[in-house]
Amino acid sequence: MTEALDDALPADTVGLLEGIASTRAIRRYRDEPVPTNALRAILFAATRAPSGSNRQPFRLLVLTDGPKAVRAKALIAASARRIWGAKREVDSYDSGTGAVADSPKARTARTMQEYVDHFERVPVLILPCLVRYRAPHPLEGASVYPACQNLLLAARALGYGGVMTGFHFGAEPELRELFGLPDHVFIAATITLGRPVGAHGPVRRRPMGELVYEEEWERAPTWAVDPEGTRHTSAGPPTREA
Ligand SMILES: Cc1cc2nc3c(=O)[nH]c(=O)nc-3n(C[C@H](O)[C@H](O)[C@H](O)COP(=O)(O)O)c2cc1C
Repeated sequence: MTEALDDALPADTVGLLEGIASTRAIRRYRDEPVPTNALRAILFAATRAPSGSNRQPFRLLVLTDGPKAVRAKALIAASARRIWGAKREVDSYDSGTGAVADSPKARTARTMQEYVDHFERVPVLILPCLVRYRAPHPLEGASVYPACQNLLLAARALGYGGVMTGFHFGAEPELRELFGLPDHVFIAATITLGRPVGAHGPVRRRPMGELVYEEEWERAPTWAVDPEGTRHTSAGPPTREA
């Protein structure tokens, strides 16, 4: 990476709230590198994330086209194919509505298959890691995952996209050895990043009133009203009424 760095960060292409509501999982990337200036801005945003006592125990291992990056991409690609292959079977992606060509389930399966099939070609791979300073603690993830979300939001702000995955799980020993990770370092995720093939669009979640309570469990506040035009999904475990 020898491109000259601009002094200032590049300008956002989208406001913060709109960016939050349209940071979807992007799994299809154009076959082009992410320029250093954009990568630097995205990683800068990631490193501004909060953490417990401001200890900043997260580290972000960025992999583009160096020899170790190529090796890590191959290792994680193989793991991704195994993980997705098993999920495809266990979650019956090829039966029920999954057998209907244009159903959401079939489309998800196609996207996932294409993603893992071309995983070696992802422009950027990032391994967010947590440097543990004490025994595993219920809140420790909260000192690394905000950095991951900042990273994805910053990518969105600059017209890039990515997704957080657990695809390193099947290649941990090899990755630890490749990068010389000390025992107290935990690989928290695998993030892939690049210029999206498609357009950004609104995320789909459950209506706000199903997810926000006031005063009592399962009591939606009267103001928990989604903005007009919000698109929903029923993905996730059934609600009590369902
Ligand atoms: C904790 C976590 C783990 C995830 N693991 C994977 C993964 O292993 N593979 C993958 O393709 N996407 C993974 N995702 C992405 C989610 O599938 C995605 O965010 C979700 O389906 C919602 O889609 P959307 O972000 O496009 O709205 C993960 C996301 C989170 C937050």
